[in-house]
Amino acid sequence: MKILVTGGAGFIGSHISDAYIKAGHEVVIIDNLSSGRKENINPQAKFYELDLLDPKVENVLKNEKIQAINHHAAQSSVERSVSDPAHDANTNIIATLQLLQLAVTYHIEKFIFASTGGAIYGDQAPVPASEESPCNPSSPYAISKLSVEHYLKFYQKVHNLNCVTLRYSNVFGPRQDPYGESGVIAIFCKRLIENTAPLIFGDGKQTRDFVSVFDVVSANLLALDSDSSGIFNVGTGIETSILSLTEALVRLSGKNLEIQFGPPRQGEPRRSAIKYDKFKKQFGWEPNISFDAVLLETYKSFS
Ligand SMILES: NC(=O)c1ccc[n+]([C@@H]2O[C@H](COP(=O)([O-])OP(=O)(O)OC[C@H]3O[C@@H](n4cnc5c(N)ncnc54)[C@H](O)[C@@H]3O)[C@@H](O)[C@H]2O)c1
Repeated sequence: MKILVTGGAGFIGSHISDAYIKAGHEVVIIDNLSSGRKENINPQAKFYELDLLDPKVENVLKNEKIQAINHHAAQSSVERSVSDPAHDANTNIIATLQLLQLAVTYHIEKFIFASTGGAIYGDQAPVPASEESPCNPSSPYAISKLSVEHYLKFYQKVHNLNCVTLRYSNVFGPRQDPYGESGVIAIFCKRLIENTAPLIFGDGKQTRDFVSVFDVVSANLLALDSDSSGIFNVGTGIETSILSLTEALVRLSGKNLEIQFGPPRQGEPRRSAIKYDKFKKQFGWEPNISFDAVLLETYKSFS
């Protein structure tokens, strides 16, 4: 199959591109390199350095005879979405809508969309949250992801576009940006390697559901190969406190550094985890890669 991976120079999109190529597919990447990196791009992929809002995107779909779209390009910073919600909406909503229109025009067989299970449910949801839990997005980023999910339902119903939405929890692994404001594992790995103590915002008892990028990749392989459509959580259902995660990282680094604590961040959820039962039932997916092994691989990848 010939697949367009948007955001294929980024953290998750580049791992997905690698896996699709390994599985024998042809991959075309569109990325504007705003947060992605050329070094992440698989040399066997055809790369177009383009912004998704650029009208030339249409030529890519027309000339490359794309059959499926895996849409991972996004403005993915919650903080930036708060400071510049219009930029967030332009990238995450408008550019996606233009891509969806092209998907209809060029008879795309499958559209896979990266949404968020970490940010979409909000604080009111039960922990772990299921797909049926109410959505209470509390940032422009999460609002934009939920908006696109609604558009996807529309495109599926009205244009018969087969859409799979994957709501990821907190994804971690090699190639994650260690200098962003999210991606706590990447940030702490880099700090430890640079002999700087990890800095926790708040008391560290806040929890997150950390899913390995390799499990996310296997979810994207299954989503491509199946005729199923709908919205699915992709996480582990396990809550890990930031403090216990940080202690594990300090241990594996072998460094004698004392964890630092700063003031809590405004608007951050206290607890977060998502159930993956629906995805397991329909696709047979389970997170099966050892947390500790991927943590070590991630740490080593930043050395
Ligand atoms: N990392 C996580 O924990 C997580 C969790 C839930 C959902 N997601 C979603 O998964 C997707 C990938 O996230 P990531 O962590 O790999 O982020 P990333 O920033 O590493 O990747 C995003 C990629 O999109 C590209 N991009 C951004 N705007 C673009 C535009 N207008 N045109 C073309 N390319 C553009 C960037 O250059 C980058 O390569 C995003 O949609 C994100 O919202 C990520």
